[in-house]
Amino acid sequence: MAFLNDNYLKLKAGYLFPEIGRRVKAFTDANPDAAKRLIRCGIGDVTEPLPPAVITALHAAVDEMANRSSFKGYGPEQGYEWLRSAIAENDFRAHGLDVADDEVFVSDGSKCDCGNILDILGHQNRLAISDPVYPVYVDTNVMAGHTGEADANGAYAGLTYLPCTAQNGFIPEPPATPADVIYLCSPNNPTGAAASRAQLEAWVKYALANQAVILFDAAYEAYITEPGIPHSIYEIPGARECAIEFRSFSKNGGFTGTRCAYTIVPKTLLAATTSGERKPLHPLWLRRMTTKFNGVPYIIQRGAAALYTPEGKAQVRALIEHYLGNAQLLVAGAKAAGLTVFGGVNAPYIWVGAPAGYTSWQAFDKILNEANVVITPGSGFGSKGEGWFRVSAFNSRANAEEAARRLHSLKW
Ligand code: MLT
Repeated sequence: MAFLNDNYLKLKAGYLFPEIGRRVKAFTDANPDAAKRLIRCGIGDVTEPLPPAVITALHAAVDEMANRSSFKGYGPEQGYEWLRSAIAENDFRAHGLDVADDEVFVSDGSKCDCGNILDILGHQNRLAISDPVYPVYVDTNVMAGHTGEADANGAYAGLTYLPCTAQNGFIPEPPATPADVIYLCSPNNPTGAAASRAQLEAWVKYALANQAVILFDAAYEAYITEPGIPHSIYEIPGARECAIEFRSFSKNGGFTGTRCAYTIVPKTLLAATTSGERKPLHPLWLRRMTTKFNGVPYIIQRGAAALYTPEGKAQVRALIEHYLGNAQLLVAGAKAAGLTVFGGVNAPYIWVGAPAGYTSWQAFDKILNEANVVITPGSGFGSKGEGWFRVSAFNSRANAEEAARRLHSLKW
């Protein structure tokens, strides 16, 4: 008899975005006219085409694959040297941060890496996770058997939840209790908040004191506009001894469908064996990648490398400014409607308080039915997200303008 992984049965309903998709489909099937004016501000998926520098590089790489002399089969599982070097040089060493080429692991996405990293971490780790939070951090730990059952609010036994509220600016403080693995996301999905240097210093201090590992998700780093906000956890002294950083080309280069990201595992980062001996995690991640992954396609890595050319950098900047311009319009529309709004300054998400008396899903239904705009209910990100909703700024300018108008004129 084959057994299934019981842990999957602990998961709450579907993954958030497929669930939203199901509800939107039911609405559009029943209301074909409303479907025509539907504006999607739910899932954080880019809408604008890939930068021209990437397209040129992709075409050239396709042509290379057509010739025996330049054809590529299996590449290095951890990424081609030229891409790892471009990443380490441009995203870290150019900013005075000490990251070696071979500490960069190129992958097919930060979502995948955030889940896969559990392969090299022990099952006995005490986990601290923000609430609200990107659901992948929680669900992958549930799947791995690191939690008990969920309660009525969807909170899993065995996890330390770090409440993120308007009072703490949606950035969690280190808990009084010890944690071994901490998930931090800055700029934050879903709240749009960005951690200050002092806040990250407090976390690095806590991690070093507890010999903990911080899993730092910086997928939205390119959206930081305010001076003084760290772009990398490695800006904080001591972080090379306690942090893994996840970065993605999805939200800066528009690679959500093209798939390329990277993870930094410093060689100076140690974790304990069951017997208490401290050993580096870097060789374990290399072993994991070379065993379970065959690398990102050559063509795609060539496309990603083009993001680091002068033209590529300028084109990425224009994309970011486009989406942040949308965010400003959406912030203004929601504020004009009298709603409480956070985010949208250092992130492509705005975090909006549902008016009194509305749960997150009730707000979702009202906005879908009456404004024909799709948002994401805050409760889908955790119990502390209840009473909030997230609006994604990933859209065309015309759609963002229209969504802002509709949010403004919606009567609650
Ligand atoms: C989101 O909407 O939260 C994003 O799509 C998350 C992701 O990039 O996976």
